[in-house]
Formats: sequence, structure tokens, C-alpha cells
Amino acid sequence: MGKGKVVLAFSGGLDTSICVPLLKEHYGYDEVITVAVDVGQPESDIEKATEKGKLIADRHYTIDVKERFVNEYILPSIKANGSYEGYPMGTALARPLIAEEIVKIAIKEGATTVAHGCTGKGNDQLRFDFIFRSAGMDIIAPMREMNLTREWEIGYAQEHKIPVSVVREKPYSIDENCWSRSIEGGVLENPAFHPPDDIYAWTVSPKDAPDTPEEVRIDFEQGVPVALNGEKLTPYALIQRLNVIAGRNGVGRNDMIEDRILGLKAREIYEHPAATVLLAAHRDLEHLVLTRQELAFKHIVDDKWSELGYMGLVHEPLFAALSAFIATTQQRVTGTVDAVLYKGSVTVAGRSSVSGLYSDELVSFDSTVLDQCHAVGFSTYFGLQARLHKNLKK
Ligand code: ARG
Repeated sequence: MGKGKVVLAFSGGLDTSICVPLLKEHYGYDEVITVAVDVGQPESDIEKATEKGKLIADRHYTIDVKERFVNEYILPSIKANGSYEGYPMGTALARPLIAEEIVKIAIKEGATTVAHGCTGKGNDQLRFDFIFRSAGMDIIAPMREMNLTREWEIGYAQEHKIPVSVVREKPYSIDENCWSRSIEGGVLENPAFHPPDDIYAWTVSPKDAPDTPEEVRIDFEQGVPVALNGEKLTPYALIQRLNVIAGRNGVGRNDMIEDRILGLKAREIYEHPAATVLLAAHRDLEHLVLTRQELAFKHIVDDKWSELGYMGLVHEPLFAALSAFIATTQQRVTGTVDAVLYKGSVTVAGRSSVSGLYSDELVSFDSTVLDQCHAVGFSTYFGLQARLHKNLKK
């Protein structure tokens, strides 16, 4: 008597592919149901996962949540300037949504056990488990429980005639969605090792980018990018198009040492061309429309929001409270930003907004609207305590 059904979060990569035979042979399940969730990874990857799932599992589902991923996770992340240790979060944002979709299929299938291919060293296990446990599911994570190495996995896949695209020379673990692509593992695990250029797929090397700068114009409405170069687009389409434009200018690479939730330091490489441009443009527009007080406080809120987002703790009540604050500030973040892309860099060249707090009447060198003599009174009191303190020491 077997153990019935298990629903597996399936990407079609090495780890999740060998989970299928492992869940039967090693864990004793009768039926393995694979679910691939489309969060805007390259179409060919989703097609491959679908084909492979149908080939090796008892039943396969492919669920398209691209638009939902953008609307419910990426847009809030733009509003929050979502970044962790200096790079735009990507993988972290998609995990809760993927996990929720797995749970839905498990309920539909009458299964009480779900499985994922995460190792016991990374963040993704925690993000998935958090959602699965909240839904009362039992969890199996073969990579974590069996302490498998990628070398062993490749051999096991070959034994089971499971086609794998990773080869021993390039055993990278790659995670993609429409916001970001991450590459880790293999030779990259030596942090001193310079990454070969062929690990990148969305960006050209800045040295190979065109010699002429390329300008893009982005319109924001309430913190959300709504048009690119004057053309209204859905946020998903806008991100897709901007990934190509910024990518061909070498914009949006990160090679860094990252602190994982568990405390491990890891060498991580990312590509996120559209995210780099949109976050730079959004931040700049905020500086035009928000007050100094709002900006300073929002910086703290954004950081905390990003930390919770990184951990995947999307049901933490603080996350909702911070999101509510952020949403209030974004009501005025409407305007236009011009950004120049050039050999890996993005520079804001101009911005405008109907809600801008900038007044050239007041600030201009050429204007006499303000009586500059009034500043003398302000200056009399400015830094008063510090001046007293400095003189005391004398
Ligand atoms: N370090 C990143 C994160 O925790 C990316 C992990 C991506 N996983 C992968 N298998 N490449 O969000």
C-alpha cells in the first residue's frame, strides 16, 4: 500500500525533475502530480517544464500567474523600492505566489502532502514552507532531507533517463521570473572566481554595449509604471520590453556576497535590467514629490518591507501595515522620468510631476520672489547648540 498523492512544485530543472522518481522510489508515493507556475520565466522554460512534467509525472498542471505576479508582487515592490542588500529582489517575490498555487492544486487533488526541490541551505525552502505550513500541508523536500549533491543528482537523472540541461561542466542553478534572473552554483561558488560571460542571458556585457546612449521615458501613475516612451502598456508588457532595451545596454547586473536568512554568506549573480531602470526612475520621482520627512521615514519602511519580502513573510501583519503606509505615499507619485542607458549605467536625465514640490520660482538663482535677507534670521539660530558646544570646548 503506497502513500497516495503528492503534489510537487515543478520547474523542470534538475532538482525538481529527479524529485519525481525519488518521491515514488524513496518516499513510496503512488502518484506524483507536478505543477509548473508561470511567473514570466522564458516561454521556452515553461514549455519545457510542461512537456517534461507530462512525460515523467502521473499528472501535470501549468498555471499562468504572470499578470498576477506583476500586479500583486512586482508593483508593490516598485512602490517600496524593494531591494535586498542593494539588488532588486526577484526570486523572493515569486515564491509565495508559486506556493499558494501549489496549495490550490493539492486541495483540488485531495492531497495533503506537497513537495519542493529546495535544498536545506537556501532561502527558498523557508519561503515555500511558510506558505505550505500556513495551509496545514505536510512537506517533503528530498534535496534537503537526503543531503544530495548535484553530482549525484545528475547521475540519478541519467539512470532514470530524465533529460537534464545542466551538465557537469556548467552545473548552475538558475531561477527566473520576469523581474529577475539569478545564477548560482558550480564554479561561481568560489567568490574570487570571475564569472564567465556566458552565464548571462538578459544583459550584454557593458563593454559590448552600443557606443551611443539610449534614452527611455517612463510615465508613472501612483507609483506604477504605465507607459514607456509615450506608449501605454500593461505593467507586464512594459517590464518585458524594458528588459530588452536595458539588457542590450548592459544595464542590471549584480555580482555580490549575500547574507541568506540562515546566516550563510553566498555568492550570488543577478540580472534585472528593467528592475534597475524602474527602481532608479521611481526613486527619483519620489524625491520630486515626497517631503523630506516622508522620504526619510519611507526609507526605513521600504527597508523593513524589503526584509520581510526577502524572507517571504507576506502574511506577517507588519507587512500589511507597511504596505498600507507605502500605498498612501504613492498616491502622489505620478509623473514622467527620462533615463539614459549607457554601457551598464542608468542615469536619470530629467523628471516632472504635477505633484512635484519643486518650485523654480523659489529656488532659481534668477528669481527674486524670496527675499534672501530673511535667511539671515534663520541662520542666526541654525546650529545654535552645536556652536555653543564648540565654544565650550575652547
Ligand atoms: N539568493 C536569491 C534569493 O534568495 C536567489 C535564489 C535563487 N535560487 C536559485 N536556485 N538560483 O532570493
